[in-house]
Amino acid sequence: MEKRTLITGGAGFLGSHLSEKLVREGHDVICLDNFFTGTKRNVAHLQGKANFELMRHDVTFPLYVEVDRIYNLACPASPIHYQRDPVQTTKTSVHGAINMLGLAKRVKARILQASTSEVYGDPEVHPQPEGYWGRVNTIGPRACYDEGKRCAETLFFDYWRQHQLEIKVMRIFNTYGPRMHPNDGRVVSNFIVQALRGDSITIYGTGAQTRSFCYVDDLIDGMVRLMNSPADFTGPVNIGNPGEFTMLELAEKVLSLTGSRSKLVFEPLPQDDPKQRQPDISLAKQALDWQPKVSLEDGLKETIRYFRDLLGSQ
Ligand SMILES: NC(=O)c1ccc[n+]([C@@H]2O[C@H](COP(=O)([O-])OP(=O)(O)OC[C@H]3O[C@@H](n4cnc5c(N)ncnc54)[C@H](O)[C@@H]3O)[C@@H](O)[C@H]2O)c1
Repeated sequence: MEKRTLITGGAGFLGSHLSEKLVREGHDVICLDNFFTGTKRNVAHLQGKANFELMRHDVTFPLYVEVDRIYNLACPASPIHYQRDPVQTTKTSVHGAINMLGLAKRVKARILQASTSEVYGDPEVHPQPEGYWGRVNTIGPRACYDEGKRCAETLFFDYWRQHQLEIKVMRIFNTYGPRMHPNDGRVVSNFIVQALRGDSITIYGTGAQTRSFCYVDDLIDGMVRLMNSPADFTGPVNIGNPGEFTMLELAEKVLSLTGSRSKLVFEPLPQDDPKQRQPDISLAKQALDWQPKVSLEDGLKETIRYFRDLLGSQ
């Protein structure tokens, strides 16, 4: 059945892919954004469709719209962006969650929270299952994001316990793909943009730290499956790709797929940078019948094609 769906942060990287999928499936989509990191360009191809509406709004302020479902994605996701105005980052996560949960309660909508693997902090458990409580520095420069997201999860579960709201909490691990921000300092976009421009590729630390990368189509498939899961399944559930790569391996893959001759340069690790991060996706497999399908190589090819066009048009 088609649903009236609100997507906060809908003009961002993940939100624009989600908007595209739900519009294609015939749902009535309200895409809400304050355009802090998202752009109208990301959803320009959806404008003019009868079942798509773009709304400028900041989730730190209350909102009233009649919807059946809310995907709460609004929040800058990369350290460069979320550390630019850390107070606003915490407000976006916490006040944003309160406002969207309040809306869900009033209109009896089902609501999904885009949480993050950052709730695990710099983990002592590897890979991270949902039952792991995390190791976060409450006063470090990343705390505005990590603690904001942790508090948002708390609010979701309190609304569920106290008001019986239908909630879904998704812990998203590193995701990449077309429409990532070119200057957000995230490793995949950084390496691709540096390689395509022929600039040096910056590796922090020795490059031996690992990350797992999920292609955006897989991630959005997991998000929609979670939203459509039975009412008694709340999560939290990890969605990510467990395939692990070191930063050096990633840099070499990007160099070979772009055919770039960029050199690698090494810089000190930023504060509180986790050394290792890998999702345990057993729960997603069992409860959502979900697992990632797109290989790093295929995903990188699509992403490189996007950035080639973007840089070519600038
Ligand atoms: N991309 C990832 O790898 C990743 C990993 C973990 C979690 N997440 C979460 O997924 C969500 C989407 O991330 P993304 O990668 O698409 O990032 P993004 O920065 O591209 O998208 C976030 C969107 O939210 C909007 N926004 C920010 N503050 C807002 C506010 N106060 N009111 C309204 N809109 C606001 C931005 O303009 C942007 O369009 C975020 O909540 C993020 O924390 C993403």
